[in-house]
Amino acid sequence: MSEMSNESTMVNNVIASSATRARRLNAEEIAEIEHEMELYPDKRAVGLEALKIVQKHQGWVSDESLLAIASYLDIPVADLEGVATFFNLVYRRPVGRKVILFCNSVSCWIMGCDSIKEQIEHRLGIDFGETSEDGDFTLVPVPCLGDCDRAPVMMVGDDLHRNLTPEKIDQIFEQYRKQLTADG
Ligand code: FES
Repeated sequence: MSEMSNESTMVNNVIASSATRARRLNAEEIAEIEHEMELYPDKRAVGLEALKIVQKHQGWVSDESLLAIASYLDIPVADLEGVATFFNLVYRRPVGRKVILFCNSVSCWIMGCDSIKEQIEHRLGIDFGETSEDGDFTLVPVPCLGDCDRAPVMMVGDDLHRNLTPEKIDQIFEQYRKQLTADG
């Protein structure tokens, strides 16, 4: 199996699912989905945005959430599941409080992202598709983050980190640990 195949298998571990009962969407989720429905005439086109909205509020998209969205938009569950599976950044299993989007495309690879990943593995004890034991971090490989001239690059939550070195990794995650501890 190729390296890319291994990675997609690991990412799929974060997005696998099985069917259960729908949950009730909350008022904020409904308001934001309604707003998207004003922008897109086709309910199916709203599907991806609805998945992102629910993920923003819930941290990930459970089977119950998927069913709730499909029901609310009146579109087939299988269609929505297909969208969720196609977009790797829709998480179909619980993820850590911070998701690390780690670029391993060519520029970052040339600039040594392998040693950066090793440092993350060493520091947090996780490989691609895994969440740290304390539930703080999930590591996900992604294609180019669009900042190749400052490779290696990763995102942690909404923060973009550039020109990474193993030493910077230690400093960055030291800061996040402090932040997460302070947030409780
Ligand atoms: S290759 Fe990593 S940001 Fe473009």
